[in-house]
Amino acid sequence: MKKLSFAILGFTLIGGMLFSCKKTSTTPTTTPITPTTLDTTKVISYKTDIAPLMSQECTSCHSGSNASGGINLSGYSNVSKYASSSLSAINSGFMPQSGKWSADKIAVFSKWISQGKLNN
Ligand code: HEC
Repeated sequence: MKKLSFAILGFTLIGGMLFSCKKTSTTPTTTPITPTTLDTTKVISYKTDIAPLMSQECTSCHSGSNASGGINLSGYSNVSKYASSSLSAINSGFMPQSGKWSADKIAVFSKWISQGKLNN
């Protein structure tokens, strides 16, 4: 009986030590460096994601017969046609002239391209 109680005492002590060790080593709670609100499983929609972006940010200059740089960005076929040149202009910060897009906006646009520029 004595041996058993020593054993129990021993295990309790070791267990207690392990537990206290665990408690003192706290895991770091730093936030990710590049948070993105983009849901990576989402299929980007031309109609609800891309067209509104273009009309808010680009078509004020890039539409109609007098489109800046001869680049029309209204309507699916035009946006699709100029998608990769637009992405490079956006990535470099050249377009829009009002200021570089946030990483989230760029991610949405580039994802739409990599998903095959769906007309959805
Ligand atoms: C305030 C007017 C304005 C807005 C808004 C604007 N652009 Fe432009 N964009 C221009 C002008 C002007 C040029 C021609 C610049 C030049 O040739 O030097 C141009 C050129 C371009 C080019 C050609 C770049 C090249 O390398 O020749 C692309 C692509 C482009 N814009 C895409 C966009 C996209 C995409 C948006 C929206 C995110 C946008 N632009 C918003 C005025 C604008």
